[in-house]
Amino acid sequence: MDRPTFALPPIPPRVHRVLLFVAMRSEADPIARALGATDGTARIGDAHIELLVPGADPVLGVDRLGPVHAASALARALCSAPPDLVVNMGTCGGFESQGLGIADLVVVRDAMFHDARVALDGFDALARAHTRLSPSESQLEAIAARTSARIGLASSGSSLDATADELALFRRTHTLAKDMELAALAVVCREAGVPLAALKGVTDLVDHHEPTHEAFLRNLTRTTDRIAQSAAAFFGQLV
Ligand code: ADE
Repeated sequence: MDRPTFALPPIPPRVHRVLLFVAMRSEADPIARALGATDGTARIGDAHIELLVPGADPVLGVDRLGPVHAASALARALCSAPPDLVVNMGTCGGFESQGLGIADLVVVRDAMFHDARVALDGFDALARAHTRLSPSESQLEAIAARTSARIGLASSGSSLDATADELALFRRTHTLAKDMELAALAVVCREAGVPLAALKGVTDLVDHHEPTHEAFLRNLTRTTDRIAQSAAAFFGQLV
């Protein structure tokens, strides 16, 4: 359970085209501004960055959060022309017990699903989808040094809150970031053979008594601003 089952390809020496997946419009706007994006695209060095945001549900009018919408939006985007690199930036729950605080950053080494319980040989690992992302150890360390981020495991699921069993799993696996997209993006990237890297910012503390949604809403702007301030430094180490 502690070792990744799958590994994504490394980041190629020359990255010309990047797809930047951000789940919520309110997370994406400050990042786009910080990168100087116009019409959802920006340039860093030789790399062309294209923003991919799943957008609002046409019936409910809310952003299409979660692993199903993330996988569907990325799979559709990869059909046209696969990029050299997919990047995921966005908010996450963090863990006080791991020394994280609000607006701290995590640069992700591995991703997995936590709400995946299939007591059948092989199918359990398939559902967990524990995957080593693409940045090398030295790239992770360079990003961490430039952005003051922690390096570690992110775990994804369909819920903003966490069950007692999931809290125990997070403790056992030393999870640093809990989100609702990254492991789904990792599965799509694996099937397409495309590299993936991720930077997450903490809006709420999963192992704290305050209701997650209250902390999330209160800290959303502060945390997305912190991610946005670090976005160029993150890309600078990879492209
Ligand atoms: N995004 C921000 N906070 C989160 C949390 N606690 N769980 C899942 N996704 C999140």
